[in-house]
Amino acid sequence: MIDIHYHILTGVDDGSPDLEESVRMARAAVNGGTSCIVATPHFNIPGEWEDPEKIREAYRILKEELSRQEIPLKLRLGMEIFGTEDAPQRLMDHELWGYEGTRYVLIEFDFDENPDTVFYILDEIHDLGYTPIVAHPERYRFVQRDPEMVYEWRMHGYGAQVNKGSLMGRFGRGPEETAHALVARSLVTMVASDAHSSRVRTPDMGEVWDMLSSEYAPRVAQRLLRDNPAHILRDEPFEPGHPRSFFE
Ligand SMILES: [Fe+2]
Repeated sequence: MIDIHYHILTGVDDGSPDLEESVRMARAAVNGGTSCIVATPHFNIPGEWEDPEKIREAYRILKEELSRQEIPLKLRLGMEIFGTEDAPQRLMDHELWGYEGTRYVLIEFDFDENPDTVFYILDEIHDLGYTPIVAHPERYRFVQRDPEMVYEWRMHGYGAQVNKGSLMGRFGRGPEETAHALVARSLVTMVASDAHSSRVRTPDMGEVWDMLSSEYAPRVAQRLLRDNPAHILRDEPFEPGHPRSFFE
């Protein structure tokens, strides 16, 4: 499996606080059947001091440590961009980045953001030649109220990444029901751990692979946990499945 949303870098956000914990998170991912993860630190959060060089340095140090300890886990670099109206401009100015080496951009939003603002930011990013992937839409209250907007994003070519914990019921009923409604309509591009530590919101993806295989079909688990993340990292089009509107 490939875990495409992961807060494993040391000391750059609310994820891993030290290198030992980053290594524990890496081992937990390997034990759960993951072969590649993308480090996606939070970035562009209004009012917070941010240093892209610190992220690149943390990435370099962790990569070295994984190879020194011979942990069989590939590491790639991305970013979880907080969606602000100036995010498209900052992307254009190369102050923000997506999944490195690709046109794909992982973007999160305030849980109570105005849906029109979300659409505006996604369209602006798309107009710059990127393909936005919305991080954990099922957790946003504006999506829980109107999940059809994920279908509309899909019709524009945008992706949606659902969290493992939402599907497993760890964030409560709203995210759980919305996550399953989106999977059932083929509106999810990928499922990821969004892991912040080795114990809470864990990186073990084995349980969600089993759940998706039994409740939906093995090919659904393969598409969301393995094939589509691989397409994204190779900068290829992802497999859409058969998206359906909530009004069909
Ligand atoms: Fe995240």
